Amino acid sequence: MESGLNPSQQKITIRQPDDWHVHLRDGSLLEAVVAQTARVFHRAVVMPNLQPPITSVESAIAYRENILAALPKGCLFTPLMTVYLTDVISPNVLEYGHSKGVFFAAKLYPANSTTNSFDGVTDIRHIEPLLDTMERIGLPLLIHGEVTDSKVDIFDREAIFIETILKPLLSRHPALRVVLEHITTEEAVQFVETSTSNLAATITPHHLHINRNAMFAGGLRSDFYCLPVAKRERHRIALRKAATSGKPCFFIGTDSAPHLRSSKESSCGCAGIFNAPIALESYAEVFDQEGALDRLEAFASEYGPAFYGLPRNTNSVTLVRVPQVVPSYFTVKNVDNSIEKLLPFHAGETLSWSVLVE
Ligand code: DOR
Ligand code: ZN
Repeated sequence: MESGLNPSQQKITIRQPDDWHVHLRDGSLLEAVVAQTARVFHRAVVMPNLQPPITSVESAIAYRENILAALPKGCLFTPLMTVYLTDVISPNVLEYGHSKGVFFAAKLYPANSTTNSFDGVTDIRHIEPLLDTMERIGLPLLIHGEVTDSKVDIFDREAIFIETILKPLLSRHPALRVVLEHITTEEAVQFVETSTSNLAATITPHHLHINRNAMFAGGLRSDFYCLPVAKRERHRIALRKAATSGKPCFFIGTDSAPHLRSSKESSCGCAGIFNAPIALESYAEVFDQEGALDRLEAFASEYGPAFYGLPRNTNSVTLVRVPQVVPSYFTVKNVDNSIEKLLPFHAGETLSWSVLVE
């Protein structure tokens, strides 16, 4: 495959990437967003935090069918389904869903850590039997890594989760395959790159572009509010270094998380950044700025499949250095025919890379 080696490069062709962490929602929002992900990604690990969450094999199958039905005709896209861990879910459900090829992974949301996580795990000790089962059958654990104690400063919640929950969990379950999702701190980078466990991390485009100032630039900007929240600049720099390092423990995971305007612009706005329309271009911008375009393919298309033991994609995607203005918003038609706005990451900005549409 052709790869980028110098700053004047005008074009880069990479193996088709996958998105190892995405929120596709359901209903009219699913219809509005799924094609944006399927535009460049061949496979995507679909988060289960619907309302109600995906906690059974049947609901995962039904959700997968809804996703496939919402795709444009002829679109080749494989949703990889996840199950939402709760205090009460039975290990048999995980084992059955895994044996049927329905559950690709299980997601741990500490209860009340983020959007639709009220049914999440209230105490890690409650899911020990689930973790034992997952370790035995080879079902990967995907983690939203934040403690939820309201006394802990929100900017410290990831680092404290690593120390108090993740470290002991990894030593109790040495064979468990674990992904620390959407990492946001230097501490997480260091922990993952030095770990001897079966551990990897996904990194979002937005955490590579913004630091916490973005949420407060000239006023309160909920469009930049996501969880875990963006941190100080030194963390953003550490994340950029990690993503472009060529270390296989760091790979793509957009955490594209669409919320309608009314849910973002509210006295209690939802966490989530919708980056699917420009996710790959947004990553390309970062790799280009870091002089690491030659490492984009491995980050986007190789390290994820290697970690999960899946084949690499065989198709390719070409990015060209042709500027594109990101739309200020998309529209979503609700069931009652009302129209709402949905703002993408980089709304109104000009990105220097575009995906070549053949
Ligand atoms: O910002 C986020 N949005 N972080 C999450 O963990 C969940 C996601 C969502 O579902 O909206
Ligand atoms: Zn997410």
